[in-house]
Amino acid sequence: MNDLTNNSFRHLFIGLDKKVPIYDSNNIIPINFDNAATTPVFKSVLDRITKACELYGAIGRGLGQKSEYSTKVYSESRDYILDFFKASKNKYTVIFVNNTTEGINRLSNMLIEDKNHIVITTRMEHHSNDLPWRGKCILKYIEVDENGRLKLDELEYLLEKYHGLVKYVTITAASNVTGYVNNLSYISKLVHKYNAKLIVDGAQIVAHKKLDFTETLIDYLVFSAHKMYAPFGSGAIIGLKEEFERLNSDLKGGGTVDAVLDYSEVLLPPPEKDEAGSPNFFGAIALVEAMKELNNIGYETIENNEKILLNYALKGLNSIKDVITYGDNYKIDDRLGIVVFNIKNIYHAENAKLLASLRAIAVRQGAFCAHPYVKRLLKINDIESSRYLVDSSCKMPGMVRASFGIYNSIREIDIFLNTIELIIRLKK
Ligand code: ALA
Repeated sequence: MNDLTNNSFRHLFIGLDKKVPIYDSNNIIPINFDNAATTPVFKSVLDRITKACELYGAIGRGLGQKSEYSTKVYSESRDYILDFFKASKNKYTVIFVNNTTEGINRLSNMLIEDKNHIVITTRMEHHSNDLPWRGKCILKYIEVDENGRLKLDELEYLLEKYHGLVKYVTITAASNVTGYVNNLSYISKLVHKYNAKLIVDGAQIVAHKKLDFTETLIDYLVFSAHKMYAPFGSGAIIGLKEEFERLNSDLKGGGTVDAVLDYSEVLLPPPEKDEAGSPNFFGAIALVEAMKELNNIGYETIENNEKILLNYALKGLNSIKDVITYGDNYKIDDRLGIVVFNIKNIYHAENAKLLASLRAIAVRQGAFCAHPYVKRLLKINDIESSRYLVDSSCKMPGMVRASFGIYNSIREIDIFLNTIELIIRLKK
């Protein structure tokens, strides 16, 4: 039984015990609380890559044995990914990309066929699910409430108001700032009732909570492998085969065509037509191996453990005078293991730097590529949030984020909380 005092999943990872230098030049074992940004590597993933190197050859090019083997493995990766999310192979295809940001950019390039089409997104989004849509269509935003949760009544209002004009609703499955998990099953029903399609930014959720396409109708899901313990530069779009068949690809080149004539070309069907250039074979198999490992651990265990860590960290932070936490600290059922906070009168970057230099604790600070959302959580307006751009005496507003993974422990959170108390004492 894993009581999380120490964590029994640590042995599954590479590098967690690799010491790093702190302020006094001593080397100590670090604590990684920056899993929302990127995650360490599963040993099984690296073993898989090493093994696959032996039989590695060109993907989809050439008839040598290694080429044929690698092509088969690469193609089977798509099937595994579809099975992982219980997405029908008849309806969906998998297009490999480098990461979620690239995936959403590609969707925005391919799906928007008319500047007057309306896309609805939210003020909770990572920039990667906001900026790619700007300037390409009419973009409408759903606001967030006092605690930073989505105001879902605004979704229905917008769908009703622009009935027939809304083509896509694009929403994060979970916030990279507060860890709120959005109610995709409710959102999906609403979106489809109004004949729009649902795009889900899955970057933050995939390593923490299972998505199931048979329970929630998702039209497009985009996610990255580097947030699910396979940081080898891959990610995927799962999307509607029929739409990809009809739409122009935004990438052209090798591997996408059946024939090229002097002034025209005959494209292959998706996914090949949408993956120009030699693919990232190792990225794809790393992703699949990480998914297998996550399934072995079990999402129920992952969710339960991370909830224990969240609860413990929030209680600890809220018990320290001078710590301000953001988001709902009381009703946490809909939150992943992410906490955001500040210490009164200590700038977020200084706080993060001290956590690293005093005790090798890695966190992220700032506005987490989610400026509109962080501004709302800090309850400041556009002028206040951007004053640092024009006034050098001002600093960029933000907060500190600690985000947990399956290998983190209560013992690590105790060290983190003690270090926060130490920082407060040192700065007095
Ligand atoms: N999206 C990543 C984060 O939230 C990089 O830190």
